[in-house]
Amino acid sequence: MAYNKIKTIAMSYPYQIKSLDEYKVAYQKSIEDPAAFWEDVANNFVWKKKWNSKEDVLQWNFKEPKVEWFKGAKLNITENCLDRHLEERGNQPALIWEPNSPDEQSRVLSYKKLHEKVCQFAHVLKNNGVKKGDRVCIYMGMIPQLAIAVLACARIGAIHSVIFGGFSAQSIADRLEDAQASFIITCDGAFRGAKDIPLKSVIDDALIGNKNIKRVIVCTRTRTPVSMIKGRDVWWEDEIQHVEEKGLSYIDAEEMDAEDPLFILYTSGSTGKPKGVVHTCGGYMVYTNYTFVNVFQYQPEQIHFCTADIGWITGHSYIVYGPLSAGATSLLFEGVPTFPDAGRFWDIVDKFKVNILYTAPTAIRSLMGFGLGPLQGKDLSSLKILGTVGEPINEEAWHWYDEFVGKKKCPIVDTWWQTETGGVLISNLAGITPAKPSWATLPLPGVQMLLVDENGKEVVAEGEETVAGNLCIKAPWPGILRTTYGDHERCRTNYFATYDNMYFTGDGALRDKDGNYRITGRVDDVLNVSGHRIGTAEVENAINMHAGVVESAVVGYPHDVKGQGIYAYVIYQGSHAQNTHGTGDIVRKDILQTVTRMIGAIAKPDKIQFVSGLPKTRSGKIMRRILRKIAEGETENLGDTSTLLDPGVVDEIKNGRL
Ligand code: WTA
Repeated sequence: MAYNKIKTIAMSYPYQIKSLDEYKVAYQKSIEDPAAFWEDVANNFVWKKKWNSKEDVLQWNFKEPKVEWFKGAKLNITENCLDRHLEERGNQPALIWEPNSPDEQSRVLSYKKLHEKVCQFAHVLKNNGVKKGDRVCIYMGMIPQLAIAVLACARIGAIHSVIFGGFSAQSIADRLEDAQASFIITCDGAFRGAKDIPLKSVIDDALIGNKNIKRVIVCTRTRTPVSMIKGRDVWWEDEIQHVEEKGLSYIDAEEMDAEDPLFILYTSGSTGKPKGVVHTCGGYMVYTNYTFVNVFQYQPEQIHFCTADIGWITGHSYIVYGPLSAGATSLLFEGVPTFPDAGRFWDIVDKFKVNILYTAPTAIRSLMGFGLGPLQGKDLSSLKILGTVGEPINEEAWHWYDEFVGKKKCPIVDTWWQTETGGVLISNLAGITPAKPSWATLPLPGVQMLLVDENGKEVVAEGEETVAGNLCIKAPWPGILRTTYGDHERCRTNYFATYDNMYFTGDGALRDKDGNYRITGRVDDVLNVSGHRIGTAEVENAINMHAGVVESAVVGYPHDVKGQGIYAYVIYQGSHAQNTHGTGDIVRKDILQTVTRMIGAIAKPDKIQFVSGLPKTRSGKIMRRILRKIAEGETENLGDTSTLLDPGVVDEIKNGRL
């Protein structure tokens, strides 16, 4: 197949940090002269045109906010993820795909094959009218075509917005509207464990009343019957055939400005509907690659298995863009850790001789629950590095992972980051900087963390003590979000207005005398359920849609496997007798169904307590602190309740606790 020859840069990663001293030197340089530091890293990529001068490497202020990296430079991220590898490692596996069922054949796509498939599908997109800058919503299961769809969008400069397969039609409709999307790529269905999820049918529901969508491209996976609407819906496979018949193969990569949007990814905040976090081409590429190579200490030809879904940021950055831009082999897994049994991850590690395993604490905790049986007879000796992401990891899970999976010879990286940060910000570098169980440890080069108190005053240790505060960042790194789609003001108020001249993460943290950070959890009204971000306001809005619900308040509580569970207090048509009577259970199920409809099953409350009132201040504000304490099982020290409009309601809630 013809392709434009792109100068191949050997994958030796000159910017890979090899010792603690090198880390210190790199960190120092990145703080003293960020532009010079990132310019050196960025020189290792394929640019169609470079930035003009060092001044253009970084321009920023957090007031507006405005952040621009590599201003004026031109590139296409897919040339970095695909074309530049063809000559030297064209036959090396780029993606290994393991299906949901172990009885089905796995697939390997070499860099050459993946390049070919991406080019073909980029033609399909063009033939269907997709243009640079158009928003394309992708709602698919974890199959190779999902990665192909993402990369094909990037190839032609369309902005992809991947929506996790667990979201409901209503959630999709909201996102389509917000992103003003005009195209959808989906599947007939998706396999997930023993389930078969009818994706296309969900899309059909999401499209009722939608006037913007011009085309829905449907990929075959489950063969679930679907209704194909004339003039709107086309089959992926038919479209590929048309491209083949026309003899179309290679396609030029669209020239993108470094600051052109690459994708939108919706994520939950403390208020309102999810926001569309926007990442741009140049900075995101440099940052995901840099962090992938350094945090995991990737060595050529290693097999990297990130168990996340591409519907979340972790999949974007560490299944697709980070690994592929580094010429790595990335393993894509369609299923779940416990299907057909709790040995699934270990079978995959054994089968493909996986070297790096990157997963979530919730998965580790859930697998711990099955004991050591599922690990028996599985050869895990290929593993070199383990990683966790998404939520704090408790020491028990850390030690289990270390002892029984890593056999005490694999460094564990605890990576802290967010959808908004594009890539990892705080983590040890595997085997290079020290690990500390349940601590994310040190910030990466380029990342200037600080802790502040409620007034925004920096918290500094007097002596050797560990200090606590709200986690903020002083200056931009290349992977920082640029805006929230269609509403820049929302980006400013959410992240840059709480404290002057700082990015506020929404997390609280501790810092020890050595500068290590331990994340203690969200300090805003955002929950982290099984590593998924869910806003309490979002869940409340969904519950309140139920016809019988008068009002509700949602808080998190500690959950052994999920990290946090969702606890909902609900005022239901004037009666709270519901808690004990049979009708209560029916109402509960109806409420759960409502939440599933409005958001998706991942946001279903674990507990619903019916109450006759909520603890409110005289100004009508719900005192969540009290509700949180009760949900956590704390019934004694509820703090000052004298400012409540009706203090009596607290006793009732305490007594009715589930
Ligand atoms: C939490 C996921 C503790 C944190 C990449 C953050 C973590 C939110 C860790 C972002 C970690 C993520 N230790 N907490 N290693 N990693 N978090 O946007 O509260 O889905 O703000 O991004 O997850 O979740 P998001």
